[in-house]
Amino acid sequence: MIYYGRHMVNEYSKQAINLGLTLFELLSEALGLSSSHLKDTDCAEGLLLLGNYYPKCPEPELTLGASVHTDGSFITILLQDHVGGLQVLLENQWVNVPPIHGALVVNVGDLLQLITKDKFISVNHRALAKHVGPRISVATFFRPNVQASSRVYGPIKELLSEENPPLYRETDAKEYLARYFSRGVDGISPLQHFRL
Ligand code: OGA
Ligand code: NI
Repeated sequence: MIYYGRHMVNEYSKQAINLGLTLFELLSEALGLSSSHLKDTDCAEGLLLLGNYYPKCPEPELTLGASVHTDGSFITILLQDHVGGLQVLLENQWVNVPPIHGALVVNVGDLLQLITKDKFISVNHRALAKHVGPRISVATFFRPNVQASSRVYGPIKELLSEENPPLYRETDAKEYLARYFSRGVDGISPLQHFRL
């Protein structure tokens, strides 16, 4: 058994928040916005730390570790161990995301795709079951603070013009996450429900 102390989780969260805030600055600048724009849109208000444990599997071809999905976040920072198994769907092909020691995986979630009108894409991904293991990963989701926030998420105004109309209707954290958690295992993105 591996025991992750409370202190370690606290420290990891703190560092992950710092990294997330830096990433939101870079993403804002990449959109041609002021560096604090995404942070000011409360993209880093809610933090969810999820530990994934994939046991070693005798018959991996009969199951999946995590079925195909997109993340219901603005961004996700993933720490994975050396076992591997994460795959992303690119042009209908499953591509491995091999573990690199000391590296984190940063993934765009649905909500960043929604507010940036597809400037950033929330990619489908899954995790395979494996003969070897167990595999452990820690996913840090930056998402709205469901309890505190009645904020509405819609297209970033600066990205709208006559030639660039909205692609998704506005939603709030509660509605979006309800949609997200009632999705099936078919890989159809909950974003489709908000598409105009
Ligand atoms: C997730 C996820 C992948 C992994 O937690 O959303 O996609 O490699 N995890 O554990
Ligand atoms: Ni995921």
